[in-house]
Amino acid sequence: MSMKADPDWWQSMFDEVYLLTDARSVCDEEITHREVDLVCELLPMSAGHKILDLCGGHGRHSLELCARGFTGCTLLDYSEFLIDHARRSAAECNYPMACIRADARSTGVSSDSFDHVLIMGNSLGYILEPKADREILAEAKRVLRSDGWLLVDVTDGTAVKDSFNPTAWHEIGTDTVVCRQRRLEGDTLYAREVVLSKEKGLIRDCTYGIRLYDAQTVNALLEDAGFRRIKIHTDFSPHRYEGDYGFMNHRMIAAGQKPQMP
Ligand SMILES: C[S@@+](CC[C@H](N)C(=O)[O-])C[C@H]1O[C@@H](n2cnc3c(N)ncnc32)[C@H](O)[C@@H]1O
Repeated sequence: MSMKADPDWWQSMFDEVYLLTDARSVCDEEITHREVDLVCELLPMSAGHKILDLCGGHGRHSLELCARGFTGCTLLDYSEFLIDHARRSAAECNYPMACIRADARSTGVSSDSFDHVLIMGNSLGYILEPKADREILAEAKRVLRSDGWLLVDVTDGTAVKDSFNPTAWHEIGTDTVVCRQRRLEGDTLYAREVVLSKEKGLIRDCTYGIRLYDAQTVNALLEDAGFRRIKIHTDFSPHRYEGDYGFMNHRMIAAGQKPQMP
């Protein structure tokens, strides 16, 4: 199997097939509840706070926060398909959730306007130029008010390396099978994902590369972006059972505060 990743893979892969292949993690309400429970435990959140769900996908965390009475949620993601999906879900529930399609490196959102920025569900490390994640965190800091909090939830690279699995597959219902072949190259994990449907044939054959973080490197990322009072929580797994859930089993949660401007 060839393993060459298109550097722009992240611009096209987050579509209806992603909602199938990653459904075990991103379409499971219990898992989202556990993740939002943790966010609410770690950050000083109030119902009226303005919260930016950056790289928020189809909005599962924002929707759950709205369901819990948080009225100031904004979802931002690059994927038009996922943003449209989220907009429909919010409208169905009558939630006052803003949805923006933009690149997280340059959101167009006003400075100093959010109390909290969340980057959930392993959404960093997709753009392989080393400066890209620094730009995303700089943007998160810009849109946060002084004393506002950033929370980043990424896969624990140390755990991924320790239990490295070069091949994995799982079935979705009786029709579809997802096969993944992986290769580690330093801190980058390349994966070729082939998705086959009995009815439709080959529905995906795509290779992606994701930069992995460990506790030290994620700490440095937040520190270099100017966040303070950084705390890293390792060993968070929202899944009830052990298994190969791609990057979603062993996660690290890093929280940091934007300092007061002089
Ligand atoms: C694995 S999904 C997680 C989505 C969501 N946070 C969740 O937990 O369900 C990663 C998301 O990050 C988004 N993303 C990645 N890089 C981005 C960028 N530079 N700007 C905006 N969105 C981005 C993708 O479109 C995708 O929806």
